[in-house]
Amino acid sequence: MADLERSVEFEFVRATENAALNAMRFIGKGEKEQADAAACDAIQGVFDLVDIRGEVVIGEGIKDNAPGIFLGDKLGRWGAQDPVFNIALDPIDGTTNLSKGSPNAISVMAAAELPAGVTRPAMRNIPSYYSHKVAYGPAVADHLRREDPEANFLDAPLEETLPRMARILRKRITDMVVLVLDRPRNQAFIDAIRRCGASLRTIGDGDITAAVAPSLPDSGIDLYVGIGGSPEGVLTATALRALGGEIQLRMWFPNPEAKAREVKGVPESEIQRIYRSKDIVTGESAIFSATGIIESPLLPGVKLIGHKAITHTILMRAKSQTVRYIRAVHDLEKKTIHLRSRGGVGKESKIGKG
Ligand code: FBP
Repeated sequence: MADLERSVEFEFVRATENAALNAMRFIGKGEKEQADAAACDAIQGVFDLVDIRGEVVIGEGIKDNAPGIFLGDKLGRWGAQDPVFNIALDPIDGTTNLSKGSPNAISVMAAAELPAGVTRPAMRNIPSYYSHKVAYGPAVADHLRREDPEANFLDAPLEETLPRMARILRKRITDMVVLVLDRPRNQAFIDAIRRCGASLRTIGDGDITAAVAPSLPDSGIDLYVGIGGSPEGVLTATALRALGGEIQLRMWFPNPEAKAREVKGVPESEIQRIYRSKDIVTGESAIFSATGIIESPLLPGVKLIGHKAITHTILMRAKSQTVRYIRAVHDLEKKTIHLRSRGGVGKESKIGKG
């Protein structure tokens, strides 16, 4: 049977590249929503030319009022015989960073083919706005898969977790580097990390790159902890399936009203459940493509040299665990981006001319 992910994966590269290229003109402009709209327009435009039936199962965070691509939206040409793909995406993770011109913004998509006859989504939608997440790299993940597959870092105090991970990594605790999203709700984690004597890094926004960082050999980050967006957690899980790292995630609510609103009808057992990457990406495989817009632990940003733009994309597949770094040089005088807003095949846009 044809391995469709192999042929379709490069369309996802094209989509995140085009989203990055179409959004880059908004770097530092203070126009979050326009940047998001530009990225979405480019992604939709790419898939208007692709013969798949793409169902968005994880869309942009329910926190965004911005224009976007949301749960239930369709991507692709939707021919009757076209293969079905479940799609998760964040056209820009780090929109605030992009609008301020600060580091850490990527365009990211993940997808999993749904074999004929299967109706259960291949990626689990975590319905809460936020989740408590702990993400670690392959060395810790492999050790725990062998020694303690049920290890629970969401309930254990960091005072226990950090020394335990340091032992697995054969590091001193003072050499452990822990990354946290800088929010008041994460203060207790920050205090605990300081008490342990580990090294703390904080970021203002964009916790997909932050949670993937411990799984990258050269990031210098050992652990990601804290409360961040749930959709971002699903995208992280897809990347970690390919990189061999692991995430533990549980829904989190700032107050009972938020809980009542966000997870009405969801059984308490699911709300309290600890999800790991295989519980989130439930299919056999998945692909993950992210293109850097502004530099992050995961990827360099778009670089403009004369009329050329250089993009860096990471493309990964869970099935083969192949991780490709794709450096592309785009000639902006020749390159056109097909945009959904322009409608119709062939109505493309020169980059930067919207
Ligand atoms: P967007 O750029 O998609 O808006 O998300 C940015 C982000 O920092 C995520 O990476 C993170 O998970 C989430 O927002 C945290 O939410 P909040 O800003 O509400 O604390």
